[in-house]
Amino acid sequence: MNKTFYLTTPIYYPSGNLHIGHSYTTVAADAMCRYKRATGHDVMFLTGTDEHGQKIQQKASEAGVSPKVYVDKIVEGICELWKTLNIQYDRFIRTTDAEHEKAIQYIFQKLYDKGDIYKSEYEGWYCTPCESFWTETQLQDGKCPDCGRSVTRTREESYFFRISKYQNALIELFENNDGFIEPASRAKEMLNNFLRPGLEDLCVSRTTFDWGVKVPFDPAHVVYVWIDALSNYITALGYPTDPKGDFAKYWPADVHLVGKEIVRFHTIIWPAMLMALDIPLPKKVYGHGWLLLDGGKISKSKDNTSVNIVDPVVLCDRYGVDAIRYFLLREVQFGSDGVFTNEALIGRINSDLANDLGNLVSRTTAMIDKYFGGSLPHDSFMKSIEPVDDELIELCRNLQAQTGASLDRLQFSVALTDIWKVISRCNKYIDETSPWILGRDPEKKSRLATVLYDLAEAIRIISILIEPFMPDTARKMQDGLGIEDKEITTWDSAATFGLYRTSGGVNRSGPIFPRIDIEKEIEELRSIKTNNENNKTTERSDENEGVTFIEYEDFSKVQMKTGRIKECVRVEGSKKLLKSQIDMGGEIRQVLSGIAKWYDPEDLIGKTVIVVSNLKPRMMMGNESCGMLLCAESGDDLKVLTVDGEMEPGAGVS
Ligand code: MSP
Repeated sequence: MNKTFYLTTPIYYPSGNLHIGHSYTTVAADAMCRYKRATGHDVMFLTGTDEHGQKIQQKASEAGVSPKVYVDKIVEGICELWKTLNIQYDRFIRTTDAEHEKAIQYIFQKLYDKGDIYKSEYEGWYCTPCESFWTETQLQDGKCPDCGRSVTRTREESYFFRISKYQNALIELFENNDGFIEPASRAKEMLNNFLRPGLEDLCVSRTTFDWGVKVPFDPAHVVYVWIDALSNYITALGYPTDPKGDFAKYWPADVHLVGKEIVRFHTIIWPAMLMALDIPLPKKVYGHGWLLLDGGKISKSKDNTSVNIVDPVVLCDRYGVDAIRYFLLREVQFGSDGVFTNEALIGRINSDLANDLGNLVSRTTAMIDKYFGGSLPHDSFMKSIEPVDDELIELCRNLQAQTGASLDRLQFSVALTDIWKVISRCNKYIDETSPWILGRDPEKKSRLATVLYDLAEAIRIISILIEPFMPDTARKMQDGLGIEDKEITTWDSAATFGLYRTSGGVNRSGPIFPRIDIEKEIEELRSIKTNNENNKTTERSDENEGVTFIEYEDFSKVQMKTGRIKECVRVEGSKKLLKSQIDMGGEIRQVLSGIAKWYDPEDLIGKTVIVVSNLKPRMMMGNESCGMLLCAESGDDLKVLTVDGEMEPGAGVS
């Protein structure tokens, strides 16, 4: 094997749970690497975590733990998620790995010795969530131009990277753009917004916090987190200690796959660093678009009634990993932004996976079983061929090359669209040839065998080509066809029509993708979402062992009153919720609470409780809730807070 393929994803910030948008880069990377492995490449797929910086230090301190303890826990969850999503990475780097930290000190020292790093003073703005420096003129309405959040004025003695020295070389690189940045439109953006206006030297050390790699010759400074993070792509290969090993084998990287908001770091800072280190540049930086939720960038939905669930673990659990992988790569053209909604996901599952693909496989295997006892005669192919077969056979013969060409350009959705055209053609072919009618006439047995063979062979080819996207489904399809011979499941074998054979016969099993009742599902999602939101407050206090102080004005925004519970019932269809009618002194409020596990409704009637009375009303399982009961919780125990003695309903609580 002499072809190598080195692909990297960005290394992830372990600063909270990953959402479906984060999974996008990694699922795409995994599909690409599976395809490259299938086409005989020696693949190095690198991912990992970006664990230093002010943002992590702040989060850890809010949680009352050390940064290392904080990141260790989250990194575990990230690795678990990649396992769930069937991500086959070859190497996982953490920027807290001792080898990486040593390599960063080496890189910093080398740039300093060369005169490309020098000491001066930084005065400007810093966006902590993005870990980015900005000048006054770069700010937009006084906020970070990347994320729109507040920035802090920073003034500190710092080391600077002489990036301005590389400006002309970078302009040349972008003007030629020989596939270095894709989609090509992003090159224009970088040229016009950053390079042509002129590059200012980059501040590459910080002194106001210490969670980072220490500057080797000045330990009061830590290395700027992006210098630390970007270098992972070479330190993971053993740079600088083992220049002849994986570094020599895989570098330069074939593709750095990144989201569009970090293209700037990967195509300006990183190439300049590599130029300064005399290391060849990566062949390509691909900046994919964002997965948008409710029209915004991601994660939190803006309205209470929305049913979007973006937790990838919940999504995989409900719909299966392959359905999620398929949706991510099919729904949106890679490179552009696209919208994620649960409705669109379920729509795709029902139409593309359950109807088109699932039915094709189950109908074909059922008919082979019914008419031929599970195994088609060996000479079925070509035996009784008719003109109607030609188009299908031709489409199948071309599909492997077509899919490969799209994948080489990282056009995942184009590849899947082409594959689905063949799936649709197969379903149409079933209607055109009506095998159930052929099955009634013993004279047509050989024609029937050819028809079913064509279908089985098309499914074999499709199963091979969807493996990069949906590995489990590919295997299920091949098991369904009773394929044991590995030679007819290789990528190369998908270019030839007529190889299908089985010795053990087809295996009929349940549908590979069951249909989802969309209305019922949306209702269930709504209740999951409500429960999650109810639990969030509790989770937050569990996580934060340390204290975050708030101002009195913050506290005074919460209005609480006493209330007497007049009626209480269970909410239909929910195991968690109780619905109470509460006398608040002059008004009756309806409040829903997730406490059915601890209380029967009758236990609560007559109690004087504390109600948060100015909480925005919201719908829960089709019922409006106007307020919240205060409860005390410890471990698995929960008690509703009540008043010590008699108190009128509607009394203020402070
Ligand atoms: N730590 C930096 C990368 C350093 S690389 C040397 C970082 N981490 S991240 O966790 O914030 O993001 C990781 C990846 O997830 C990025 O490619 C980012 O673009 C991607 N996504 C995060 N939210 C996304 C969407 N909503 N949609 C698509 N991808 C997005 O950036």
